[in-house]
Amino acid sequence: MPLLRDAALTAAFDRGAGRYDRLVALNPGYHAQLRRSARRLRLPDGGAGRRVLDLGCGTGASTAALAAVLPAAEIVGVDASAGMLERARAKRWPDRVSFVHAPAEELGRAGVHGPFDAVLAAYLFRNLTGPDAVLRAVRDLLAPGGRLAVHEYALGGRRADRLVWDAVCRGVILPLGSATGDRALYRHLWRSVAAFDTAPAFAARLRRAGFEDVRVLPLPGWQTGVTHTFVGRRTAGGTGGAR
Ligand SMILES: C[S@@+](CC[C@H](N)C(=O)[O-])C[C@H]1O[C@@H](n2cnc3c(N)ncnc32)[C@H](O)[C@@H]1O
Repeated sequence: MPLLRDAALTAAFDRGAGRYDRLVALNPGYHAQLRRSARRLRLPDGGAGRRVLDLGCGTGASTAALAAVLPAAEIVGVDASAGMLERARAKRWPDRVSFVHAPAEELGRAGVHGPFDAVLAAYLFRNLTGPDAVLRAVRDLLAPGGRLAVHEYALGGRRADRLVWDAVCRGVILPLGSATGDRALYRHLWRSVAAFDTAPAFAARLRRAGFEDVRVLPLPGWQTGVTHTFVGRRTAGGTGGAR
């Protein structure tokens, strides 16, 4: 079976939106790890005077991480799924947080314009049909020197990392998906991680898209070797390397 993509993936997230927060709450450290990736953007002064984009914000877990770590930043959350966004919008947010319903591939058309000082994309890139085009668009939305953090399941490349991922999926994620009626979405999670770049390959993808100072940072707990934060910067001079 092919991976869920585009409209089919959005429909699956729409259907699963009501259960999403309860399911991620079962993942120890989910929110703390998002905050860790938000801190890795290293914006000074709590983000005062800075604009930050949360691409693929879902029900707002990553937005909340940004809001906590950057208490003075303006934050824009964007997601393709109306169902996920409805959940995000229903939460209490300070005025400096706003949400836009749009696919990552069509930000300009939805009125999302740069420059942003930083972009966080948590659990998004593995889901995209055209990750390279979106990376280039994100680079162009960033101010010169602006920072990207991608928080993503991307296996470390050791055989043990793949074994851990398979074991977690077979033991926890797939049974939970079946029990909650979100089988297609959680099967997609399993298979999309197995099919996605390894961490070194995704870092190379970031460099090809024109990001510099790219680093792959580990996350603690069972996610070590399975989930990473990738950080990079748009060149201070502007467009960066390869287009
Ligand atoms: C696994 S959720 C992660 C949500 C949130 N970032 C978090 O950390 O909890 C992935 C989100 O990406 C969104 N998404 C997938 N493809 C997208 C696209 N092409 N454009 C915008 N959002 C997309 C989905 O609708 C979903 O809400």
